[in-house]
Amino acid sequence: MSVMRTKSIEQSIRETDEPDTALKKSLSWLDLTVFGIGVIIGAGIFTFTGKAAQAYAGPSIVISFGIAAVVCGLAALCYAEFASTVPVSGSAYTFSYASLGELVAWIIGWDLLLELALGAGVVSQGWSSYANLLLTDMGINLPDALAPRTDDNPAGQFNLLAFILIIALTALVAWGIKESMRVNLVLVGIKLFVVLFVIIAGIAYIKSANYSPFIPPAQAGDASEGVKQPLIQALLGFTPTTYGIGGIVAGASIVFFAYIGFDVVATTAEEAKNPQRDLPIGIIASLIICTILYVAVAFVITGMVKYDKIDPDAALATAFKDVGKAGYATIIACGAVAGLTTVVMTLIIGATRVLFAMCRDWLLPPSFGRTNPKTGTPVRITIGVGLVVAFIGSYLGNHIDLEEMVNIGTLAAFSLVSVAVPILRHKRPDLKRAFTVPWSPFLPLVAAAASVYLMLNLSIETWIRFLIWMALGFVIYFAYSVRNSRLSGNPKEGEVPSLTST
Ligand code: ALA
Repeated sequence: MSVMRTKSIEQSIRETDEPDTALKKSLSWLDLTVFGIGVIIGAGIFTFTGKAAQAYAGPSIVISFGIAAVVCGLAALCYAEFASTVPVSGSAYTFSYASLGELVAWIIGWDLLLELALGAGVVSQGWSSYANLLLTDMGINLPDALAPRTDDNPAGQFNLLAFILIIALTALVAWGIKESMRVNLVLVGIKLFVVLFVIIAGIAYIKSANYSPFIPPAQAGDASEGVKQPLIQALLGFTPTTYGIGGIVAGASIVFFAYIGFDVVATTAEEAKNPQRDLPIGIIASLIICTILYVAVAFVITGMVKYDKIDPDAALATAFKDVGKAGYATIIACGAVAGLTTVVMTLIIGATRVLFAMCRDWLLPPSFGRTNPKTGTPVRITIGVGLVVAFIGSYLGNHIDLEEMVNIGTLAAFSLVSVAVPILRHKRPDLKRAFTVPWSPFLPLVAAAASVYLMLNLSIETWIRFLIWMALGFVIYFAYSVRNSRLSGNPKEGEVPSLTST
């Protein structure tokens, strides 16, 4: 069946040297780790920690962070093995093209676009809230219609700050990845400083009474009913509740957002100098560093403020305001602005690289995926992605809560990638693997099951939107990609396919 055709790994690697579609190889393991931290620490810790602690888990959000870290760690091992075996742009998409076949690869690519483009839009909105806070402090007030839409400003229509940020970053990414990396390095430094600042400055304000009850008792609530309730609750016929043990897992499926990004490191595989060694280091190191920081921040914030009083929008800054340290709150807001900038930029880079890989396989129009000879970057794709993200960040996100969509798309990709590890080992035992997941196939299967379990803890509403997105993907695949794929044997006019299906 043609949808099961796979693309040989040797072909994928050879193609990365084709002059028209080659990317510059300039990144070291340190660049990759910085890149990873740059995209991982973002709106998740600055915004969603507070939201999830307040609405789902209370102080036990610390456990939620632990659960999400374990799920991500398992998936990270699988990503590291793949990235060290198939060092080609496009990440999970490329891995699965080599092992599970074209249709699954398409599904994963489609999921990744959901993760990366929507993620960039969601984080740009978080960025705009903090940036607006600083502007207001300086006495600059945007008209309500152009300011970020929040509970306090329901009149927000077009998020001007998010729009400006995305356009500026898109230009930077189109300019060239090495230049972007340098900017990234400075911003990541500021972000790490602020996160450490929250932890160290906050310890003095912890009140042990705030940790009790550590796991608030389960209770019925508005947020847990109808299409808002986790799918698993409805499937198993549980009475809808928040908090309790169910709240810890639901919290994990929300704060999972905070870890998204380590997988994006794998999307830059082709730009690494020594991908086989450097990618696993970059992926695993950035995940470990972020896990330690997150657990510490969550512990400090829930110790500073009683969980039901935590500000769901800007928990970190507000916690310090509440204890009379408004100056600290400003420092944190500045750090958030710097920190979230790198996240948006890295997610945009990731989205362009996935699309790039899909165009190079002709699953999407190939002319869209040419690299510009001057910049060495896929300029057309970058501009296309920038415009879509700008629409999401400045308009769409005002009307729909998109973060759970990002999570479900990412978790779906994680589960497919995990399953693909033992399949590729079985099909291609001969390939050189610089890094291998221990106890395969057991561990990869646990990784897949854990991702699916978190998916089930997302709301019914999110599942419905996700299924609609997937249906759209199937329509495009069967209407265009299956016939135009490089593996289809239908050459485009003037172009000869250089691939054979295996
Ligand atoms: N992990 C990234 C964030 O928290 C996406 O913003």
